[in-house]
Amino acid sequence: MKKSLFIFFILLIFISCKDKKNYEFTNEIVPTPAFVEFGKNVLNVSDEIYIIFEDSSEDGKKITDYLTNFLSKNFSPKFINEAQDKKTNIFISIDEELPAETYSLDIDNNGVYLKSGDHRGLFWGIQTLRQLFPVEIEKSKLSENFVLPHVKIFDKPQFRYRGMHLDVCRHFFSVEDVKSYIDLLVMHKFNTFHFHLTDDQGWRVDIKALPKLAEIASQRKETVIKKNTGIYDGIPYGGYFTHDEIRDIVKYAEDRFITVIPEIEMPGHALAALSAYPEIGCVGGSYDAATSWGVFDDIFCAGNEETFHFLEKVIDEICELFPNSPYIHVGGDEAPKVRWEKCPKCQKRIKDEGLSNEHELQSYFVQRMEKYINSKGKRIIGWDEILEGGLAPNATVMSWRGEEGGIDAARQGHDFIMNPTSHCYFDYYQSEDIDNEPFAICCLIDCEKIYYWDPVPNTLSKDERKHMLGVQANLWTEYILDRAHIQYMVLPRMAVLSEVAWSKAPRDDYSEFQNRLQSLFKRYDALGYNYAKHELITEKN
Ligand code: ACM
Ligand code: ZN
Repeated sequence: MKKSLFIFFILLIFISCKDKKNYEFTNEIVPTPAFVEFGKNVLNVSDEIYIIFEDSSEDGKKITDYLTNFLSKNFSPKFINEAQDKKTNIFISIDEELPAETYSLDIDNNGVYLKSGDHRGLFWGIQTLRQLFPVEIEKSKLSENFVLPHVKIFDKPQFRYRGMHLDVCRHFFSVEDVKSYIDLLVMHKFNTFHFHLTDDQGWRVDIKALPKLAEIASQRKETVIKKNTGIYDGIPYGGYFTHDEIRDIVKYAEDRFITVIPEIEMPGHALAALSAYPEIGCVGGSYDAATSWGVFDDIFCAGNEETFHFLEKVIDEICELFPNSPYIHVGGDEAPKVRWEKCPKCQKRIKDEGLSNEHELQSYFVQRMEKYINSKGKRIIGWDEILEGGLAPNATVMSWRGEEGGIDAARQGHDFIMNPTSHCYFDYYQSEDIDNEPFAICCLIDCEKIYYWDPVPNTLSKDERKHMLGVQANLWTEYILDRAHIQYMVLPRMAVLSEVAWSKAPRDDYSEFQNRLQSLFKRYDALGYNYAKHELITEKN
C-alpha cells in the first residue's frame, strides 16, 4: 500500500514536471504591458465561448460587436450574465476603481477575466488578449482547439494621446484604405487618428456650402515625378470624401474607440482651396492646385473678411462631421509671408489691429479662428509655427520641427504633442540601403532609433511635463501611392512607437523588443500586411 502510494506521488511529480516543461511562456506582447506574469499552466479553449458581459450601453455594444466579429470565423460567442460550466467563459466588466484606459487581464482555469475603468480600456485589453490567441485566428478557421496561457496582466498607457496621422492630400486613398489604416492603430493601441484633409495639392472633403472645393480644389492637373524633378506625369489626379464617406470613416474609428481629429490647413497650404475661390488669396488669382511638392507663397489673405467667412463655413461642416473630436487641427505650418508683406488688405489689417509684423498677423488669424472653433465647443491644435507671433489662448501645439515647440508651449502653460521629424516622420527612410527602398523624402529613422527615444523633454519641470499629452507619427504621402506602400512605411515603426507611447517599462534592451516583434510579424503575415522586413530575424544557415 505504502509502496503504491509512493509510486503514485512519483508519477504525480513526473506529470507536473512534464507540464511545467511544456508551459514556459515568455512575454510576446507589443506594446509590453506594465505588469505581466505568466503561470505554468493553460486554459483549454472549448468550441463554445460564453462572454459574461451584459452591457446595453452604446460603448458596451461596440465591445460586443467587435468581439463577435473577431471570433466569428471560429466561434459564435454568446453574451450572457452567468458563467457556463465546462465551457470557456470570458468575464468582462467595468471596474470604476480603475483609471481611464487602464485594464487588468487574468486568465486561469476558470476563464478569462477582463476589467477596466472604461470601455476604451476594455478594448485595449481585448487587443492584448488578441495577441494571446494563435495568429491563425486572424485569417481563418483554426484547425484544432487551442489553449490560452495562465497569466496576470495589469496595464495602463504612458500617454493619454497616442496618434497616427495620414495625409490624404498629396495622394488620395479610398475609404477602405483609411479603414485599414485605422485597423493598424487599433492593433497597436493608438487612440487618435489625425486626418490631414486639405493641402496645396488637393482639398479632400466636400463642403456643401462651398461646392467648388469638391468640384475644383480636389483636382490637380498632373503630378511631378519624384522630388520636384521638373518632369510631370501628365495625368490629372483628384478625389475627395463625401459627407457620408467621412461619417462612415468616423463611425468605423469610433466603433474601435479611436478619436478622429480633422485637419484644415490655414493660413498656408491653401493653394488648392484658392484654385476654387481665388478671391480669398492676396492677389486674387490665378491659382492652380500644386502639381509639385513643397511650400507655396500663395496663402489665404488675412486682410479679407471673406477669408474668415469661407473658413467659418468650412468649420461649421467639419464640426458636424466630427462631432466627437474635442479638437480641430488648424495647421498653421509653413505659411510664407511674402504675399502678406505686399498685400494692401493684409497691411491694413496689421495697422488696424495694432500688430507689429506678419507673424503677429498669423497669430491674429489663428486666434480669430480659435475663437470661432471654441464657440463651437472645440479646441484647436496647430503645428509649432503657431507659437510665432503669440500663441492662441487655448491652443495645443504639435511639436514637429524638433522638441523646442513642445518645450515652449509647456512653459507658456499650453498642452503639446511630440512628433519631431527626428523620430516621428514615417515618410522618411527606414534603412540606409536606400537603393533597395521605395523612394522617400529623405533621412533615416529606423526602429532602434525610435525605441531609444525619450519623448519627454528632461528640461521641463514636473508641472510643465503635465502638458505633454503624448506622441504621434506622421505619414505624409508625396511618394506613397497605395495601401501596401502605406503599410510598408508604418510597419513595424508604429509598433516601436506604440512601445514608446503606451509602455511605462524602461526601454533598455532592444533585442528583447526585437524578439517580441517576431511574434507580431507572424500576426502581420496572417493579416496579409506589407511590412518592412529589416527587423525580421531569419533562420541563420
Ligand atoms: C509639417 O510637416 N509641415 C507639419
Ligand atoms: Zn492679403
